[in-house]
Amino acid sequence: MLRWHGPVESTTLRIAFEDVEIGGTTISRGAPVIPILFGANRDPRKFEDPETFDVGRQRNPHMAFGFGIHSCLGAPLARMEAIAAFDVLFERTGGLALAMDESDLDWPKGFFLRGPQRLEVTAA
Ligand code: HEM
Repeated sequence: MLRWHGPVESTTLRIAFEDVEIGGTTISRGAPVIPILFGANRDPRKFEDPETFDVGRQRNPHMAFGFGIHSCLGAPLARMEAIAAFDVLFERTGGLALAMDESDLDWPKGFFLRGPQRLEVTAA
């Protein structure tokens, strides 16, 4: 789920220490860069069928918690919270289904922190 639509879509700002070429584009020393994690999480070179939602993926090297020295300090806690919350939610409801038109999902315009403003669901 984090690969598919993580709540943090980009890292914070980075500044290039030196000229670097990535994918045919030169990023000059001193230039600001905001890596988009969402793009990395849909990279077809890393994920088979990247546009498919599959919670059972065996190989899932996603970057929803960032990467390198600034990768998320709270990742283990977030994973534990999610397991506890989804366990209870699915136990109590037996499963959920979207109860609104997908086109009515109200996604924020920005790209740093993302999530629909409202999500109507019904017990499946
Ligand atoms: C699903 C939940 C979460 C997601 C998707 C997430 C995602 C991220 C990402 C992508 C970064 C890297 C930002 C960057 O590179 O600029 C980050 C950093 C960080 N996260 Fe999280 N986070 C989550 C939950 C949490 C929680 C629960 C805590 C604390 C209790 C936390 C604490 C931090 C801290 C302190 C950093 C900064 C690490 C550093 O800059 O060295 N996060 N998080």
